[in-house]
Amino acid sequence: MSPERIEKLIRKDLSALGAYSAHKAPETLGSTTEVPVEEIIKLDANENPYGCSPKSLAALAEARNWHKYPDSLQTSLRDALQQHMGVAADRIVCSNGSGELLDDLYALLLENGDEVINCVPTFDMFRFRTLVNRGKLVNVPRDSSFDIDIGKIKAAITKKTRLIVLANPNNPTGNVTPQKDLLTLAETGVPLLVDEAYYEFWGETILPQVDKYPNLMVLRTFSKWAGLAGLRIGYGIFPPEIARYLMKIKLPYNVSLAATVAVLAALKDVDYLMGNVRKLIAERERLFAELQKISWLKPYPSQANFIFCVVKKGSALKLVQALQRKGILVRYYDQPLLENSFRVSIGKPEQNGKFLQILRGLEAEING
Ligand SMILES: Cc1ncc(COP(=O)(O)O)c(C=O)c1O
Repeated sequence: MSPERIEKLIRKDLSALGAYSAHKAPETLGSTTEVPVEEIIKLDANENPYGCSPKSLAALAEARNWHKYPDSLQTSLRDALQQHMGVAADRIVCSNGSGELLDDLYALLLENGDEVINCVPTFDMFRFRTLVNRGKLVNVPRDSSFDIDIGKIKAAITKKTRLIVLANPNNPTGNVTPQKDLLTLAETGVPLLVDEAYYEFWGETILPQVDKYPNLMVLRTFSKWAGLAGLRIGYGIFPPEIARYLMKIKLPYNVSLAATVAVLAALKDVDYLMGNVRKLIAERERLFAELQKISWLKPYPSQANFIFCVVKKGSALKLVQALQRKGILVRYYDQPLLENSFRVSIGKPEQNGKFLQILRGLEAEING
């Protein structure tokens, strides 16, 4: 088939769709960095620098059943998560990263042109998967402190609204929406999905309210607190009827056996993993205080495992590129409300120290 013919076969809206910009693997950086791959400090994807639980590593090393398909009903995982959260297993669905569950929920709820309310700036996956699933994106901007605007959200609700989606803490800004505001949104009766990917770094959750609000859904992941981003496993808590439909439409073996084995072990090592979370929280506060001392930066307080920072003087793009040359990867932003800025994930103390040391030396370069 010729490229022209293929182009004709592709959905028009997808050929025009702006792609999701994923992080770059260090081994693909080529001449844009002067540092060997193994020395690169990755602070661009909110990964957990402490890695996963040693119990997960041991369980993976011992497992032998790789020739078998995993349990499509996710029985052991859902039971373990029931224990972990105190939420009935029939409300829980696991997925190949929490993004997959977002996708399945969109597939379940959206007919052509149905609307999703999205509080921007936020995690770009919400936009991307809405559009791939033929939804219509209704962006409601946050204010200059990145707080959501309840009045504007309520005003944006129409007969076609199928979902309000919200990250709490928000990515990339790190701020949080108070419970009372979430409950005001839940009171509208519109399905509300609260993405709590960074919940463990904050400690507050809307989860206990799911019994009271049948339109409330919560998304979680093992990528951040449990250091399992590479194994791809997330989960969600839904009203039992929605969970049943999600179980029906998901790919049967969406969660790999490796992810299952690793998570079952991680859930037996929560104290260890939360110890790492506490270390990252302490480092977040230290890094924030240090960034505040740099006159040409404006860091924003964060309840997650990253800090959003505006470059007040000089070019954020030049800064991010210069950091990359010196082997430090951070995430660059330049879009409405996130002008000339970057997000840095919290690393180990020595990684954050190196980042700060290099950052302080770059002032002249980024103003040139
Ligand atoms: C708000 C939010 N939700 C979900 C995810 C992705 O989680 P997962 O790795 O489970 O797909 C991220 C990752 O950056 C995120 O920031």
